[in-house]
Amino acid sequence: RGLMLDVSRHFFTKEFVKKQIDALAFYKINRLHLHLTDAAGWRIEIKKYPLLTEFAAWRTDANWKKWWNGDRKYVRFDEPGASGGYYTQDDIREIVEYARQHFITVIPEIEMPAHSEEVLSAYPQLSCAGEPYKNADFCVGNEETFTFLENVLTEVLELFPSEYIHIGGDEAGMAAWKTCPKCQKRMKDEHLSHVDELQSYLIHRIEKFLNARGRRLLGWDEILKGGLAPNATVMSWRGEEGGIAAVTSGHRAVMTPGSHCYLDSYQDAPYSQPEAIGGYLPLKKVYAYNPVAASLSAEQAKLVYGAQVNLFTEYVPTPEHVEYMLYPRTLALAEVAWSAPERKSWPDFHARALKAVLDLQAKGYHPFDLKNEIGSRPESTKTAAHLALGKKVIYNAPYSLHYPAQGNTALTDGIRGDWTYGDGCWQGFINGKRLDVTIDMEAETSIHSVTAAFMQVVGAEVFLPASVTISISDDGINFTELKHQTFEVTKEDPIKFTDISWEGNAQGRYVRYQAQAGKEFGGWVFTDEIIVK
Ligand code: ACM
Repeated sequence: RGLMLDVSRHFFTKEFVKKQIDALAFYKINRLHLHLTDAAGWRIEIKKYPLLTEFAAWRTDANWKKWWNGDRKYVRFDEPGASGGYYTQDDIREIVEYARQHFITVIPEIEMPAHSEEVLSAYPQLSCAGEPYKNADFCVGNEETFTFLENVLTEVLELFPSEYIHIGGDEAGMAAWKTCPKCQKRMKDEHLSHVDELQSYLIHRIEKFLNARGRRLLGWDEILKGGLAPNATVMSWRGEEGGIAAVTSGHRAVMTPGSHCYLDSYQDAPYSQPEAIGGYLPLKKVYAYNPVAASLSAEQAKLVYGAQVNLFTEYVPTPEHVEYMLYPRTLALAEVAWSAPERKSWPDFHARALKAVLDLQAKGYHPFDLKNEIGSRPESTKTAAHLALGKKVIYNAPYSLHYPAQGNTALTDGIRGDWTYGDGCWQGFINGKRLDVTIDMEAETSIHSVTAAFMQVVGAEVFLPASVTISISDDGINFTELKHQTFEVTKEDPIKFTDISWEGNAQGRYVRYQAQAGKEFGGWVFTDEIIVK
């Protein structure tokens, strides 16, 4: 029953972590996974590599978004304006011991081979380029990389008695490996045919190192790439597939799919919330999660060792905001992992969560104000009634197979999306960055309006259209334009929903709706229904 807290994107003090341990223990979370290293700052003292905390722990701007969209540079701790921090080894011992007294095991995460810009700025010889600010991935061809990682892990193992050591493993770009002479030599020497196998080579070696010291390797589901290390445990975040693949091959898994477990998502109607990275994960959806997929056998189910919620903190700069994102959703996860599914009751849990919010407030925490929750996008809670319902949609530009919603019928089935494009009800378009569909009304029809909803989620490269054209035709070939309008798209609204309509009087059999994303930003176009009245 885990919680992951990202202390790299924003650093949170030892005192704050201990305060969370009090609450986590009270609600029966028993693993605290600390995401200690990432591009935004290295957060743990390592005696052998002082630059990690003199330099790689400090950045030029406290505001992650400004820094990430700006220079992404690091500075020495003693330079004016340096922003960051880290836990000394004594701090770590204190946190680990405090957690132990509260029956919580702290699991450290040291990212490799990717998400390591901060290390490679301090020790550029460990990167393929050999220079700072060029690579995010360690050079796997360089033996010094292994010396470094093993030295770091040696100190980490002394501090953390946990059985599991998380080595990251997610989102390696691998591009530099393809041309780096050292990586290429390693691939040749080890008979590796793909860079995925180079990542797997690193994970296997690190696993041997950990196993020899009595520990188990835990990593994000990308550690499956190129072949899973023999004893590795997979933390499944890109959906459940990675966890299912792990347990069906006899490995352990911890389930933490983005759909149900990523607390950096909005927990209520986005317009009512502080900016989040995107998504929509209300309390009810966390509570509805079942970490044991229906497809698993009883034997495989035993290999699902737990479930976890994660709070990545790019958009979560303050301690109060962390608490706001954690509670009460973390309570739902604790119960999901603690209770047999048939014993769960949403009304019962919801009533207790309302009370828990009051209790948490009384104890000085800053939970989300559950009693004033707005809830789902109203359109998503009922079937849309309109003239095109059930009518055939001709795709002049294809939808993305990553976001098909209900496929060819999605835009005329009356099913509307909720506050996130990832809910399976929004259809996504990336090919040509445009929506272009024709609806066959089957007969000449008098129409008075045509409407589609669009969303913008800047952090996910989803944008409102820069232009929309709505037209009508009797034969499906010759169209008369009813409306053509261009829009100024800006990044000012991080998340926004807009209906774009034509209204008037027209007659025809075929209705065409075109929406084009702008050139400057590009990205995705999402809609959920073409409503004809
Ligand atoms: C992850 O969210 N990159 C594990």
